[in-house]
Amino acid sequence: MVWLRKIVRKGLNDVEKYRYGKPIGELERELGFEQVVRLCSNENPWPLPESVKKAISSGLGNVQRYPDPGAFKLRRFIASQWGVSPAEVIVGAGTEGLMHNLLHTIIDPGDQIVFPVPTYPIYRLAGIAAAAECVPLETGPDGGWGVDELVEACSEKTKAVILCNPNNPTGKMLPRNDLIHLASALEGKGILLVVDEAYAEYIDDPAYLSGIGLFRQIGRVVITRTFSKIHGLASLRVGYAIAPKSIAESYDKIHPVFEVSGIAQRAALASLGEREYIESIRVKTIEERNRLVKELLKTGVHVENTCANFVLVRHRKAETVYDLLLREGIIVRKGSDLGLPGFLRVSVGRPEENDRFLVSLEKVLNSVEG
Ligand SMILES: Cc1ncc(COP(=O)(O)O)c(C=O)c1O
Repeated sequence: MVWLRKIVRKGLNDVEKYRYGKPIGELERELGFEQVVRLCSNENPWPLPESVKKAISSGLGNVQRYPDPGAFKLRRFIASQWGVSPAEVIVGAGTEGLMHNLLHTIIDPGDQIVFPVPTYPIYRLAGIAAAAECVPLETGPDGGWGVDELVEACSEKTKAVILCNPNNPTGKMLPRNDLIHLASALEGKGILLVVDEAYAEYIDDPAYLSGIGLFRQIGRVVITRTFSKIHGLASLRVGYAIAPKSIAESYDKIHPVFEVSGIAQRAALASLGEREYIESIRVKTIEERNRLVKELLKTGVHVENTCANFVLVRHRKAETVYDLLLREGIIVRKGSDLGLPGFLRVSVGRPEENDRFLVSLEKVLNSVEG
């Protein structure tokens, strides 16, 4: 069926699909484990607060009805929290959904998007889906790239620069002055800066400028946030963006109308009201992250500095270590899936999960190196 092969967009033939973290059920089925430790997707591993669980169950009574496509209550709350107008808030199906729709909103044939790599692979995939020309700027695991280098990688065809801050998988952040310099350099060239702040809540560094502050200062940037990380709602698929009103209005014309379920909207709204819970998760995560780094260093592996809820570990036999950890019932993320061969990315789990990981890692390292 030659014609069937021609139906699919030509550019898609060579596209590698997203390699996600191994689902728990898969490893359980494969190796018969009952208690798998999943440290591969940077999720919040702690239980949700009661108010959020209640919001989720209260939504069950309405599943036969379509959700509010404008997410009115959630948008209003986010707007008031950040001091922007509801017309500048977009609610979407997680950062992933937002990124796809945003690029479909701004990309015309021949347009480019530029982003430093290694980074979250979804930017490239969303770019391809929107038929943008993707221009990755190669950097290293230390996240070392200059703002001027990034600006120079842009051309007249560049529509947007996408910046993950702090970056996945390196765990590094672009500090305040550099971010402001980047935003104004791009603004001067008429290029939109999109900042993905999925891990912003974990940062405790005063040199970090959240894009929301940047939005208030400059206004012509798009900042995305997700409920999948510190809010613990990864499975419900909800996130938001703060964007200039003109972009938000155009986005509203083309996004899948009912893509954010009513349950997700209710849960996100309840979660935003749980400031103490969020703060407690932040504190616990940072404490566990610091402990994990300290213990990892004792094993002799190289650990990169990180300001997010994951750590990046360098090992010359990273793939073997990954495979052997799976056999111990521990799922981490292979750096090679994220453009960083020779590394493993380990999410910060609950103390007992991190302990199990550390014990298994020591065993695995002994067998790999011994
Ligand atoms: C940089 C980055 N942005 C966003 C997300 C979350 O995406 P979503 O909101 O679609 O769950 C992730 C998840 O791994 C991520 O690493």
